[in-house]
Amino acid sequence: MADLVTQIGPLRLQNPVLTASGTFGYSDEMAPWLDLTRLGALVCKTVTRAPRAGNAPPRTCETSSGMLNAIGLQNVGLEAFRRDKLPFLRDCGAPLIVNVAGETVEDFAFLCRALSEEDGIAGIELNISCPNVAHGLDFATDPHLTEDVVAHARRATTLPLFAKLSPNVSDITLIARAAQNGGADALCVANTFVGLAVDVRSRRPRLSNVTGGLSGPAIKPLALRAVWKCAGTVSIPIIGVGGIVTAHDALEFLIAGATAVQVGTATFAQPRAVLTVIEGIDAYLNENGFRSVTDVVGSLKLD
Ligand SMILES: Cc1cc2nc3c(=O)[nH]c(=O)nc-3n(C[C@H](O)[C@H](O)[C@H](O)COP(=O)(O)O)c2cc1C
Repeated sequence: MADLVTQIGPLRLQNPVLTASGTFGYSDEMAPWLDLTRLGALVCKTVTRAPRAGNAPPRTCETSSGMLNAIGLQNVGLEAFRRDKLPFLRDCGAPLIVNVAGETVEDFAFLCRALSEEDGIAGIELNISCPNVAHGLDFATDPHLTEDVVAHARRATTLPLFAKLSPNVSDITLIARAAQNGGADALCVANTFVGLAVDVRSRRPRLSNVTGGLSGPAIKPLALRAVWKCAGTVSIPIIGVGGIVTAHDALEFLIAGATAVQVGTATFAQPRAVLTVIEGIDAYLNENGFRSVTDVVGSLKLD
């Protein structure tokens, strides 16, 4: 049997497959559909200091091989998260990564400090790359701001820290290096690509926010390239995310240099997608004589 155990910086996981933030809620609604103890880790919906109602509907729409969303970080806020969501999440049997977002570096530090007081949190993912809120992309599109926000978060917590990058930049490797310099333990590559869909009958945007973030199979080659570029630039682990539906999709990311992957949009059509990805990676490793998943990471042949 192949060994799926994966090390993401200081975090040791039973396998390299995580859920992607915002596509798995706070996991309580997913629990009837799949055995959460089988996940590599669970990344919950972004938490902000104050509750957010999100953008007005319509805020999702289907596109060719993908979807656009402009949810706008709807969430219950830190206080209700700690009181109402954390008790289930910390006992659900999967390592919990809490994804956080703020408007200032102090917000990010505050959230990291507050969550560090709680038991049962395995790590924090910094969402510095939300395309659907005012200034949501600021941190991840400027290397100085990236390094600063990660450094503030780093000083506020000893928990494993992931920085979730934006693909909406001209050179993601500059941002990756900045996040590493700021003290991130790993990079999550990447968030959604900003896009637009138009209703030709009304000649209006299909989303109330006008633009939204594109996710799903449509973005896989783009995300894969971003992962490959980042993996060639930094020494910290990369968590690949973007368009993963099957185990073969996930394996492409691992071979391109990701240490782990996240499954997002696929979950909406197939709530058990994350488990079929884990099972398929296991089968591939056994069929191809790999003893450990770590043997495929970064094994892309270029000659
Ligand atoms: C409906 C929806 C909501 C999302 N909400 C968040 C969020 O709250 N925080 C975050 O960091 N990423 C969020 N994302 C981005 C995903 O975590 C992921 O980075 C992106 O969708 C690409 O992966 P995928 O193609 O597998 O979905 C959201 C994506 C979707 C589709």
